[in-house]
Amino acid sequence: TVALNNAAKAAGKLYFGTATDNPELTDTAYVAILNNTNMFGQLTPGNSMKWDAIEPEQNVFDFTGGDQIADLAEATGKIIRGHNLVWYSQLPTWVSSGTWTTETLTAVIQNHVTTEVSHYAGKMYAWDVINEPFNDDGTFRTDVFYNTLGSDYISIALTAARAADPNAKLYINDYNLEYSGAKIDAMVQLVTDLKAADVPIDGIGFESHFILGEVDASSLQTNMESLTALGVEVAITELDDRIELPATDADLEQQKADYESVVGVCMAVSGCVGVTIWDYTDKYSWIPSTFSGYGEACPWDENLVPKPAYDGIVLGFQS
Ligand code: G3I
Repeated sequence: TVALNNAAKAAGKLYFGTATDNPELTDTAYVAILNNTNMFGQLTPGNSMKWDAIEPEQNVFDFTGGDQIADLAEATGKIIRGHNLVWYSQLPTWVSSGTWTTETLTAVIQNHVTTEVSHYAGKMYAWDVINEPFNDDGTFRTDVFYNTLGSDYISIALTAARAADPNAKLYINDYNLEYSGAKIDAMVQLVTDLKAADVPIDGIGFESHFILGEVDASSLQTNMESLTALGVEVAITELDDRIELPATDADLEQQKADYESVVGVCMAVSGCVGVTIWDYTDKYSWIPSTFSGYGEACPWDENLVPKPAYDGIVLGFQS
């Protein structure tokens, strides 16, 4: 069978990759597959580059976990997507519960972004600079950043990231951009506004946490093209496809079709640079602990055996 990163590259894409996380790196069978660069040409750290891990106390930086993933990527010839710099979640309480003025919070964002991006400068393909800024109704999420600075926090972070590593692609990443409606419309408007204001923005990430049978390829393609038309690239950044348990053979066939369909959309959109799955195996998927009664969302099962979804990905890249 064809290895997935090889399939992506043969199809003209930059990478096929996966999220991983530091605790999993003690699992030698897991790591043996992860390290195969024909299979995965790109890594995203699932947790260890987030704010709570990197700057747990103000101006106290700890790059231990992030470096472990960055070093592994370098040693195995993979590119990295840095994830993430500014997000309402996994934010240390000194940020989320601090008392801020526009001046002090601006300085905190600039210091965090500048220090983290500088630390990894030259090693990153891209950064998710802003993660999940929108509610599903297209309004801005009212987190500490928005409540203090309005949407200016976005340009503050993007501008600091560009200065710290001019070669990294700067992304905004979000979920539920895969469907038509208020959320994708808001993202298109945001990119339009950032471009008009000369704020650096290079890409938009479509997380793509699907529910079995709910992939709408037509909307996904339209939405990606709405963004690439504005002069940014796009990527599938956190793909998985959760099944209501117990999964039947028919479910696994539908999941194969879902994966094929999503990868096929990335193929159909020239500005879609690559596909990342949100870990490759059900053994380490975030789904069961978050969505009760759902699981088996990844292309490898919990015994690290490829599922029909694997062949769906190959077929998608060959479309
Ligand atoms: O670090 C603590 C550890 O000290 C503690 O003992 C343990 C006990 O529960 O929790 C650990 O924190 C967990 C953390 O992952 C690190 O393992 C959190 O409970 C857990 O909630 C957290 O989940 C992560 C989640 O983001 C948090 O929002 C998932 O692993 C991670 O896959 C997930 O990734 C997000 C993307 O960043 C953004 N898009 C959605 C995606 C899925 O939720």
